[in-house]
Amino acid sequence: MTRTDSDSWDLATSVGATATMVAAQRALATSGPDKLINDPWAAPLVRAVGIDFFTRMVDGDIPVVEGGEFDPIRMGHGMGVRTRFFDEHFLSATSSGIRQAVILASGLDSRAYRLDWPAGTVVYEVDLPEVIEFKTTTLRDLGAEPTAERRTVAIDLRDDWPTALRAAGFNPQAPTVWSAEGLLIYLQPDAQDALFDTIKSLSAPGSRVACEFISDTSVFASPAWREHREKMSALGFEVEIGDLIYHGERNHIIEYLTGAGWTVTGRQVRDLYAECGLEYGDDELAIAFDDMTYLSAVLPGPAV
Ligand SMILES: C[S@@+](CC[C@H](N)C(=O)[O-])C[C@H]1O[C@@H](n2cnc3c(N)ncnc32)[C@H](O)[C@@H]1O
Repeated sequence: MTRTDSDSWDLATSVGATATMVAAQRALATSGPDKLINDPWAAPLVRAVGIDFFTRMVDGDIPVVEGGEFDPIRMGHGMGVRTRFFDEHFLSATSSGIRQAVILASGLDSRAYRLDWPAGTVVYEVDLPEVIEFKTTTLRDLGAEPTAERRTVAIDLRDDWPTALRAAGFNPQAPTVWSAEGLLIYLQPDAQDALFDTIKSLSAPGSRVACEFISDTSVFASPAWREHREKMSALGFEVEIGDLIYHGERNHIIEYLTGAGWTVTGRQVRDLYAECGLEYGDDELAIAFDDMTYLSAVLPGPAV
């Protein structure tokens, strides 16, 4: 499916299905004896969306062939490492006193329901209206209770989301901890810059932001990725990530944020695996993605 400037989706279609895909991976990271995270809402949310492949994935109904492409442990590790990075980003910011969090492109992220937020923390979730509505009603029906004050902002990040965020009560004078997890490659390069410009304009000193950084999105057109994709396709996997992302040149995020006054720290995916006691791997697919970097940036200012 070709992207357009005003395209839209729910959790079963287009970019929305990628939110279901990563939630299915969080469900895998939550299961098993060496589970990396505990996201009890991931599997129920995935089942509620109802994409057959992902439901079978979280239910353990996709056959694992030794040496085959579908490797639930590997998939769980990849998402578990990523989830832990962003969990720590939020928990470290709140333990330093920040009480305002904004999860951009929140998808089926259940942090507002599962992290141990300090009292008084307000968590804003921003995503398209159908995505926000689905998660809110599904979790309510499942009996989930937010662990912070959760406020939703149902809007496209290509529209005037700062106005909507302020209308929901966001206070730009207070330091904020932001995340843009699994989002940037789905934005046009200029929309990525605009997003960071806006985050900066809404960030009081001491604010923090975290995101992933893939220096070259052509990895999603690489032979290693195509081969992986074809094997997954044979199992019923239908999300064409390569068609959903915007390819081509975009600003180098570390340089962009640094130029805007943020102090940026980058951690390679391989190092994050090691910190979790895991081997990153050295097959073609692992190597294709091994410059993936997880960034956290702080806007210098007084500690809160
Ligand atoms: C790969 S999912 C990541 C979801 C979530 N951050 C996570 O890691 O579980 C991509 C998310 O980005 C959201 N997204 C992409 N472009 C968006 C836009 N222009 N406005 C709002 N949300 C957007 C999608 O709706 C989807 O929820």
